Amino acid sequence: MTVEINPAGIWDSEAIADVAAATFPLACPPGATQDDIAEFIDDVLSAERFSEYLTDPNRTVLKVTHGGSIVGYAMLIDGEPADPEVGKVVSLRPTTEISKLYVLPGNHGTGVSAAMMNAIVERAVDAGCAGLWLGVNQENIRAQRFYTKHGFKRVGTKTFVVGTQLHHDFVMQRAL
Ligand SMILES: CC(C)(COP(=O)(O)OP(=O)(O)OC[C@H]1O[C@@H](n2cnc3c(N)ncnc32)[C@H](O)[C@@H]1OP(=O)(O)O)[C@@H](O)C(=O)NCCC(=O)NCCS
Repeated sequence: MTVEINPAGIWDSEAIADVAAATFPLACPPGATQDDIAEFIDDVLSAERFSEYLTDPNRTVLKVTHGGSIVGYAMLIDGEPADPEVGKVVSLRPTTEISKLYVLPGNHGTGVSAAMMNAIVERAVDAGCAGLWLGVNQENIRAQRFYTKHGFKRVGTKTFVVGTQLHHDFVMQRAL
């Protein structure tokens, strides 16, 4: 499958928000309510929020395109983890967070996500990072398996708020 991976621009905000709304529910545990998921999408994954992310100098949004359509995206955040508890378990510096990595379901298991991960690693190495870290829901076994295949190891836990619910994540880290 031929895909292109490039940094997204502000003009991509609407298209990436559409992919985000379609894929965020896939990462949620079965107990997450539709209302809580909808609230999170409205608050955190709207086109307006992506236009903010796309102009934040500490963030990079990568888009993966197939046949002219965006089929996935990743958001990277450079610098010290905002949560000091995460900062204690993430041992490598400088570090970058893979804050989001989402691919449309029709493209799972095709190598698109691996291509995204390779692009993320290449960018982080070029930027002089020593490590990458991420949070993944403790019930999201598919994503954990994907990250493990790509060299990430569990280093701790954290929580993540979706609407009215507190979700439980593993923190994973990989050296570069
Ligand atoms: C996470 C994601 C990017 C991984 O991409 P992918 O193309 O699915 O990844 P791969 O197919 O290369 O790897 C997934 C692994 O999980 C396995 N797997 C698939 N479904 C599974 C399931 N229900 N339970 C356990 N393992 C599963 C696959 O067999 C594969 O392992 P293998 O290569 O050893 O056979 C993609 O699934 C995705 O976008 N998911 C929805 C959003 C999400 O969860 N994002 C991550 C948020 S932290």
